[in-house]
Order: sequence, then C-alpha cells, then structure tokens
Amino acid sequence: MNFSKKKHRLTISFHLQFFANIFYIFLVLALSFNQPKFSSTATWDSNGITFADSSIVGVQPGAIFVNTNNTVYVTNGEDNTVLIWRDESINPTKIIHGNFTKPVSLFVTSNGDIYIDDGFENGRVQKWITETNTFATVMNVSSQCGGLFVDINDTLYCSMTVYHQVVKRLLNDTVMTSNRVAAGTSSTGSAPNELAFPSGIFVDVNLDLYVAEWGNHRVQLFQPGKSNGITVAGITSLNPTITLSCPSGIILDNEKYLFIVDQLNRRIVGSGLNGFRCLVGCYGWGSQSNQLDGPFSLSFDRSGNIFFW
Ligand SMILES: *[C@@H]1O[C@H](CO)[C@@H](O)[C@H](O)[C@H]1NC(C)=O
Ligand SMILES: *[C@@H]1O[C@H](CO)[C@@H](O)[C@H](O)[C@H]1NC(C)=O
Ligand SMILES: *[C@@H]1O[C@H](CO)[C@@H](O)[C@H](O)[C@H]1NC(C)=O
Ligand SMILES: *[C@@H]1O[C@H](CO)[C@@H](O)[C@H](O)[C@H]1NC(C)=O
Ligand SMILES: *[C@@H]1O[C@H](CO)[C@@H](O)[C@H](O)[C@H]1NC(C)=O
Repeated sequence: MNFSKKKHRLTISFHLQFFANIFYIFLVLALSFNQPKFSSTATWDSNGITFADSSIVGVQPGAIFVNTNNTVYVTNGEDNTVLIWRDESINPTKIIHGNFTKPVSLFVTSNGDIYIDDGFENGRVQKWITETNTFATVMNVSSQCGGLFVDINDTLYCSMTVYHQVVKRLLNDTVMTSNRVAAGTSSTGSAPNELAFPSGIFVDVNLDLYVAEWGNHRVQLFQPGKSNGITVAGITSLNPTITLSCPSGIILDNEKYLFIVDQLNRRIVGSGLNGFRCLVGCYGWGSQSNQLDGPFSLSFDRSGNIFFW
C-alpha cells in the first residue's frame, strides 16, 4: 500500500454553524483533542481554505492533530519532522527533528507530549517529552503505525498497518515488552476478528476502539475485551449506509457520530441523526477548493472546523 501522493495540502473546511450548541466535553475529561457537539443540521463549507501546502508539509505528510488550544501538529515524512503551528500562525512556530524516519501518525496528550510513529525502519514509537525536549522509546512495533492513540486510561495504541493488528500497552507499565493485542490476528482477512491494513484509530471514553480499515473498506468497532469487531461503516455493515474505499482516518464527535476520511473516494464523510452523508470532497477528484486529492487524516478544531489533508 502506498499512502503517498503527489500533491498535498492541508485544508480547513469551516463549520458553518459556529454557535450551534457547541460545548466541550474535554473541560470535564481533560481530553487533548476536540470533540464538538454539532446540531443535527450542521454543515461544512465545501470550499476549503488551504492551511499549508507541500512547500511546508512536504510530499509525504502523515497525520494531522489539532489540540484543544487549536495548536496544529503534522508529521512530515519527507524530512522526518513534526511541524507545529500555534496561535493560528501561518508558518510553523516549531519544527521538531528527531531520530525517527518516515513518521505516519502522531498523537498529542494534554501535557503537550507527542507520540510519534517510528515503526517503518526503527520498529518503535517515540515520545517527544515537551518538558525536557527529549525523546523516549515507548513501544516496540512490527510495522509503521498508521494510527496512534492514547486513551483516557493512559494506554497507547498503534495500528500496525502492514501487520494487520492493533496493539496496545499501558504507558506506565514497568514491564517493557508488554504489548497486548487490541484487535486483529496479524494475518490479513475480513472475518470479524481480522483486519486488513488498519490505518487511523480512535478510542472513546468507554474504551471502545474504532479502526479505519484501509484494506476491507470498513470501519470496525471493537468493544473492550472483544476480539470480534462490529462493522459500523462500509458496505458490509449491518445497516449499510455508505460505501467506503480505503478509509484512512476516523474521529468521533461528542455524540459518537463518525467522521471518516474516505481516502480513495477522495472525500470526508460523516454520520448524524439521518445517517451518513458526504461532507467535503463531494464534487469529484482534483485540486479545486471543493475537491480533494488523496486525503489521509482529519481533526476537529475548537469550533468544529475540520482540518485534514
Ligand atoms: C537512532 O535510532 C536507531 C534505532 O534505534 C539507533 O540505532 C541509532 O543509534 C539512533 N541514533 C541516534 C543519533 O540516537
Ligand atoms: C493551552 O494554553 C494554555 C494557556 O496558554 C496553556 O497553559 C496550556 O499549557 C496549553 N495546553 C497545551 C496542551 O498546549
Ligand atoms: C486501566 O488501567 C489499569 C491499570 O492502571 C488497569 O488495571 C485497568 O484494567 C484499566 N482499565 C481498563 C478498562 O482497561
Ligand atoms: C498506571 O496508570 C493507571 C491509570 O492512570 C493508574 O491507575 C495506575 O495506578 C498506574 N500504575 C502505576 C504502576 O503507576
Ligand atoms: C523495546 O525493545 C528493546 C530491545 O528489545 C527493549 O530494550 C525495550 O525495553 C523495549 N521497549 C519497550 C517500550 O517495550
């Protein structure tokens, strides 16, 4: 599989109903990311605003993460850096260089620490510790992490894309080599307990794990302790509502509605009271402001705008 594409830009699609009943659950739970509550009629401007282009993010950007301060983090797999924009700055305000190669995913916790995929060559996940400006290896992995997540119980998850498995470990576990299987069998397949090229992942406050499965064109939900997933999006779901083609990114809003990067259909889709609908990129492929070219990852800012590339 090949996530890289020729033209890249990070885009913001503005949520058009800024005052539509938005509140923030992170005030209670201290989540590091935004989970806006949208009204059932929420819409997004189909004309995105380009936030950064390939002259800044390179031709191999990976994940995008927007924290609760609207600080934007992006991995640049071309020059092996993490770019950070604070205070709605046009240019990155910080660039982190490190001993990691071709990072695909990242996750930022509330204290500002950054978990960075370094699976491709070095078989590990690195943590950049904000306080000390140093790195630590926090997980050993068998492939690139197409997605990284730290849940509310301080458990780190990596979706090992070419190993067809999601693994997890408690971050404060003193036994180092202690990855546990969160989902998948490590051989590819489409049975409920199998995964094919898992990419983006999301773990909600109930520790339900959502996996965007690039190879099976579906989003799987794994409830805690269950090895069989339930298909919640894609043509094979029990209530088929939308067809996905190589979904690569998944996030949930405050009401557990799904927002998915439908990568090969070059669009962002979302669920709501009336089922799934196309939100962005609904006018075919291309580089017009209402078209997408190979999106991969998405994140909400505080106002419910969708940042993606
Ligand atoms: C970078 O990481 C690799 C793999 O762990 C290691 O072999 C190498 O010594 C590290 N280099 C530096 C400068 O830390
Ligand atoms: C968010 O901004 C506040 C105020 O500037 C700061 O104290 C806090 O550390 C920031 N949090 C993160 C996660 O950057
Ligand atoms: C949360 O972490 C603790 C260990 O610190 C563990 O015993 C517990 O099972 C975890 N809870 C869940 C729901 O995974
Ligand atoms: C690890 O973290 C969990 C959840 O935060 C906590 O309950 C547990 O006591 C911690 N364990 C150790 C060994 O620090
Ligand atoms: C990763 O593997 C190395 C070498 O086997 C080991 O020293 C280290 O403790 C492991 N780290 C983690 C976080 O599992």
